[in-house]
Amino acid sequence: MDGNGRWAKHRFLPRVAGHRKGVESVRSTVQGCAERGVEALTLFAFSSENWRRPAEEVSLLMQLFVSALQQEVERLHQNGIRFRVIGDLSRFDPTLVELIANAQRRTAGNSGLALTVAANYGGRWDIMQAVNRLRAEHGSGLESWTEAQLQAYLALSDLPEPDLFIRTGGEQRVSNFLLWQLAYTEFYFTDTLWPDFDAHALDLAISSYRQRERRFGRTSEQVVASQDSRS
Ligand code: IPE
Ligand code: MG
Repeated sequence: MDGNGRWAKHRFLPRVAGHRKGVESVRSTVQGCAERGVEALTLFAFSSENWRRPAEEVSLLMQLFVSALQQEVERLHQNGIRFRVIGDLSRFDPTLVELIANAQRRTAGNSGLALTVAANYGGRWDIMQAVNRLRAEHGSGLESWTEAQLQAYLALSDLPEPDLFIRTGGEQRVSNFLLWQLAYTEFYFTDTLWPDFDAHALDLAISSYRQRERRFGRTSEQVVASQDSRS
């Protein structure tokens, strides 16, 4: 979710105004995904690199996170959404950690959209915490580990790998998001700034995705043949 600051700057508003408007885009995108039958939505809200921002902005982002949790969790629950946060929570304020834990507990039994917020998350961090936990639990007993063994310790290991990656705000990079999980994901970049990302923008991304042919290393002819044999 990129472009909050620029959205505000274009309007001669403080950056915080962009972040506030960005929360509205989160709300509408969650709703849009739920309505469209999307199985899982993962939002990159705050990267491990974002601590480098001015202290005032970091603290404001945290406050927004707290107030969004306070206001939205009940609604998420009513809509059958299963909410969780991935990332290193050790640097967060205990109040926020507590709110996250409550929200996760409250919605754990839901079977609708799996909504994940990545906070103080980094793809490299994810891989390293998986390696460390794998090693801690299995020691050096194993000669070499398989991808499947490592995968089980990564964040989102219970979800299918993402089909579509959307980055708003015009930059064309991954910025240490889900590095492992994005191996076969389709990428979609848009100049739309996150606060302007609405249902129409979501539909544009999904229709772009629908035009892609996903070959997973095979040839186009093989893909077409396997689709024919299935229908
Ligand atoms: C994304 O918007 C929001 C967060 C990283 C929390 P930015 O704040 O990066 O917006 P720009 O890139 O300055 O426009
Ligand atoms: Mg940015």
